[in-house]
Amino acid sequence: MSGSVSLRSLEHTALLCSRRRVRTVSLFPSPMAAMASNTSGPVPFTDVDDGTVPKRPAKEEFGGLVAALPRKHQAGLELRLYQGFWLPDHWVAGTVVFQRRFAPRPDDVILASYPKCGTTWLKALAFATMTRDAYPAPAQHPLLRLNPHDCIPFLDEIFADGQEAKLEKLPSPRLMNTHMPHTLLPESVTGAAVAGCKVVYICRDPKDMVVSLWHFLRRRQPELPFAELFEHVCDGAVAVGPIWDHVLSYWRASLARPDRVLFLRYEELLQDTGKHVRKLAEFMGRPFSPAEEGAGAVEGVVELCSFEKMKGLEVNKKGSAGAYHAMPRDSFFRKGVAGDWVNHMTPEMATRLDEVVRDKFRGTALAAP
Ligand code: A3P
Repeated sequence: MSGSVSLRSLEHTALLCSRRRVRTVSLFPSPMAAMASNTSGPVPFTDVDDGTVPKRPAKEEFGGLVAALPRKHQAGLELRLYQGFWLPDHWVAGTVVFQRRFAPRPDDVILASYPKCGTTWLKALAFATMTRDAYPAPAQHPLLRLNPHDCIPFLDEIFADGQEAKLEKLPSPRLMNTHMPHTLLPESVTGAAVAGCKVVYICRDPKDMVVSLWHFLRRRQPELPFAELFEHVCDGAVAVGPIWDHVLSYWRASLARPDRVLFLRYEELLQDTGKHVRKLAEFMGRPFSPAEEGAGAVEGVVELCSFEKMKGLEVNKKGSAGAYHAMPRDSFFRKGVAGDWVNHMTPEMATRLDEVVRDKFRGTALAAP
């Protein structure tokens, strides 16, 4: 699943780069010193967030709009139907603000996903790739002391809390993430006539997504029956669903604007992580140089972000991440494999979900043969 080259390769790369002066590198004695010296991004969001931006929930401004939307209560969440998607009630007003006021910088990269499809991994890989010069001493890499969710701001919660001013504090290039479908992203990001910014999407076999989501939700609702969640997914009425429309929105965007939208699959990342790290780096405008390739920089990123490495870190074994529903950090690292659905679904359930999705994907290259 992941590279076998040790973290030493990252150190070796940095050494090589500094010797050959491929890029400017510097050693930071401490995270805060790193912050002070490192004027370009991405930098860990938690380090920049000094807690001085007050919460001003977007619902105070757009509560009337939210109250008028169709609603459902499912799997412990209040959902609202907004522009074709069932959004958690507490995200809707923030989404309106995001759509109307978000000002992307041309070198921003937004990481997008349906929940439980590899968000944490993508955040780690993108952050490690973009910061590979900034932390030449591997022991000081922020991903060793911070959960990936603490390194990259989650737009949906930031905007729900009216704390978008926090984003302005981030030096460019910024990495941010969202669970919104492409059709709900701001015109300032997706519009044909605007400079916009880049978007990387990761999708996953919906059967494994449901299983992963069930395990995740059970951390808050231990009694949640798997069959109940499965029904909601098949009906499309699940948070940020329907999942097929979510995937299709990014698939179509990636075909229309391959320079602006990169479409990745969790299973393909598992098969050859290094190949996709290279793709990701190139797309984000930071391709690996021949010297870095030779020094094993790609393998260093792969290993730093590998499931085993991340799951084993102390920081990911304790505490919680997330502003609204803080979730234990260890809940983001369960099995990290493809095909675990066989342990939770009957063959009939699997066929049913496959058929629903295949039907929705009909006529596109996403439809399985
Ligand atoms: P499982 O529950 O199937 O194990 P998200 O980050 O979108 O919430 O997705 C969580 C899923 O990604 C979980 O799947 C989790 O184990 C898996 N995951 C987290 N970090 C990973 C990594 N570094 N490599 C591979 N899979 C990872």
